[in-house]
Amino acid sequence: MAGIDHEVRSTRLARMMDGVLVAQLIHVVAELGIADLLRDQPMPVAQLARRTGTDPDALYRALRALAGEGVFTESGPRTFGLTPLAEPLRTDAPDSVRNIARMRGGREHWLAWAELQHSIRTGSSAFRHAHGTDLWTYLASHPDQAAVFDRAMGDDAQHIHAAAASVLDLSDVSRLVDVGGGHGYLVARLLRRYPELSAVVLDQPHTMQGAERVLAEAGVRDRCELVAGDFLDSVPTGGDAYVLSRILHDWDDQACLRVLGNIRHAMAAAGQVIVVDSVVPEGDTQHSAKLVDIIMLALNEGRERSEAELATLLEAARLRHTATLDTSSHISVIISDVQPGNIPTCTREVEHTGSGQ
Ligand SMILES: C[S@@+](CC[C@H](N)C(=O)[O-])C[C@H]1O[C@@H](n2cnc3c(N)ncnc32)[C@H](O)[C@@H]1O
Repeated sequence: MAGIDHEVRSTRLARMMDGVLVAQLIHVVAELGIADLLRDQPMPVAQLARRTGTDPDALYRALRALAGEGVFTESGPRTFGLTPLAEPLRTDAPDSVRNIARMRGGREHWLAWAELQHSIRTGSSAFRHAHGTDLWTYLASHPDQAAVFDRAMGDDAQHIHAAAASVLDLSDVSRLVDVGGGHGYLVARLLRRYPELSAVVLDQPHTMQGAERVLAEAGVRDRCELVAGDFLDSVPTGGDAYVLSRILHDWDDQACLRVLGNIRHAMAAAGQVIVVDSVVPEGDTQHSAKLVDIIMLALNEGRERSEAELATLLEAARLRHTATLDTSSHISVIISDVQPGNIPTCTREVEHTGSGQ
């Protein structure tokens, strides 16, 4: 980048700024379900507009702009079809990101992005600044947005959970507790893989119905207990492994210590804590975690952490970091266990200041 000429660098920066438009156009077509309508064949924009209740000319301009980015193709005059890059916008694509696009560009998120400067100036949540409440409380009282959020987590989960499960060895675990387990996608996958394993999914009350469905569809409901609760207060006891998949990154250090302390307090005498999260690399390397880190800051006052930061956090909760396992995805699996002779931490004394995604 050092020798880059002025015209090139300003053009490159302008292209980066265009990213905001591309992201929002992807959100709009995901909301409209355009890729689903194009699943079998290209369609004239007039017909697409009728099916989606949109303005034909405006829709044409949106699809033309996205086709210029490689998403959709104008395969005939004012007729659009899918490209390989548009396929994951289909609801039923195996690598679907439709709900992630719906969530990311949703109005409640967008209002938070508008307040990003507040987060950078203060280190506190742009979401709270925009909405007057934290994301979780907001979702609990906005069922439509909560449904999109949970589906987005499900879409994302396919890839992330498969990658995490492939490096995990739970052959010695008999009772697994998934703390903030959402709709139970990871537990469903692990219970299918380990027929002797039983599990508990702890999450907020509004996610329980979805978890019921996912676990029943996976045929493992009989080996899984569902617990509606608040992991900042307590977690189910007696697990010999506790999973935190995409949880710690939602919270500031103090709140993480509170959750880890609750786990430490609840777990059997010997056991492990399995964290599934991104690990931020050192230096200028491009890594999705560096941008997701900004999402976490803006939404929740959370953060993505380096391996050293995660190890420090675990040690502060009197857990011993034993391994960091890379996976085929952008997330890693960070394993820790109980340090022999340590008395369980009572974290209720730690004042919680953060809120979380
Ligand atoms: C980013 S999602 C991750 C879900 C799941 N672990 C996964 O990997 O797909 C965070 C989850 O934490 C849950 N959550 C947030 N605050 C919570 C709390 N105080 N107690 C229990 N669950 C909570 C949310 O409902 C959500 O399901």
